Amino acid sequence: MRNKVTTAIFPVAGMGTRFLPATKSVPKEIMTLVDRPLIQYAIDEARAAGITEFIFVTSRGKGALEDYFDLAPNLEEELRRKGKDDLLEALQQTNMDSGAIAYVRQHKALGLGHAVWCARRLIGDKPFAVILPDDVISAEKPCLQQMVEAYAETGGNMVAAMEVAQDKTSSYGILDVASENGNLLDVKSMVEKPKASEAPSNLAVIGRYILAPSVLHNLEKLEKGAGGEIQLTDAIAADLHQGRKVHGYRFAGQRFDCGSKSGFLQATVAYGLARPELREDLAGYIKSIAPGL
Ligand code: UTP
Repeated sequence: MRNKVTTAIFPVAGMGTRFLPATKSVPKEIMTLVDRPLIQYAIDEARAAGITEFIFVTSRGKGALEDYFDLAPNLEEELRRKGKDDLLEALQQTNMDSGAIAYVRQHKALGLGHAVWCARRLIGDKPFAVILPDDVISAEKPCLQQMVEAYAETGGNMVAAMEVAQDKTSSYGILDVASENGNLLDVKSMVEKPKASEAPSNLAVIGRYILAPSVLHNLEKLEKGAGGEIQLTDAIAADLHQGRKVHGYRFAGQRFDCGSKSGFLQATVAYGLARPELREDLAGYIKSIAPGL
C-alpha cells in the first residue's frame, strides 16, 4: 500500500522583503488575514489533509512564530473565568500536541529548495507535503486534501497547478505538460521563472507539493538556479528526468498571493466578506467607495 502523507514542511525562512518595514520585526507568516495569522490557515489546511507532523524551516527573527504555537495558560484561564468560550475555542486551535511540531533553522536564505533540504533529517523515506503559507487558497475542500486524495491514486510527485497570465510566467515554476486527464496533468518537464517568450505553458506551480524523498537527494547535489537560489522546481525536474512521475494537480479553489501586497489586500477583502459578522458592514463600505460595483 502507498505510504500516507502525514508530514508537512512549512518553509518560513524567507526575508519577506516585499513587506518591509513590517517584516523587520513581524514574520510575514504572522501577518493577519482578518483575525488569524497566515500560518494558521496553512496549519488548518494541513490538518484537514491528515497531516500530524509539522516541520517549520525558520530563520532569525521568527520567534513570534514559535510562540504562536505555544500554550497560553494565563490567557486561557482569564477567558475561562470570563466565560468567553468562543475566544477560548479560537485560541485552542493554535495548540499543538507535544512533539508534533519541529523547528529547523535555515541559516542563510539560499532559496526554497535549500529551505526544504534543511528539513531532510526529519523526513526519512516517506513522501511529505510542502506548504507555502503565503499562498492562501480558499476552497470548499482544502487544497492539500484534494491533492492527498488524488495522490493516493497516482503516487510519484504532485504539485498544485493553475493558469497564470502569460506575462507573469517569470514569477513562477512553469509546467510543460504531455497530457491532461481531468484535474491531473502529466508533466514532462518544468522550468523555474521562464520569460514569457520561453515559457512552455502558462500553467504555474502554486505553493502546495507532495514529494518523494528522492527530491531531497536531488537537492543535495543541486547548484544555484534562477535568481541565484537553490530551486525546489529544479530538484523536482531532476526527479522527472530520473524517470519518476510528476503530476500537476488543477485544484478547485481561489488562490491569493499573500506574499505580495496586492494579493494580501485582495485576500483580506475576500476573507472579510466571507465572514457573516463582517460581511454587511464591509460590503457597504466597499460599495460606498466604489459605487459602480
Ligand atoms: P518568497 O519567494 O516569497 O520569498 O518565498 P520571501 O523571502 O518570503 O519574500 P520576498 O520575496 O523577500 O518578499 C516563498 C516561500 O519560500 C520560503 C519563504 O519563507 C516563503 O514561504 N523561503 C524562501 C525560505 O524558507 N527560504 C528561502 O531561502 C527562500
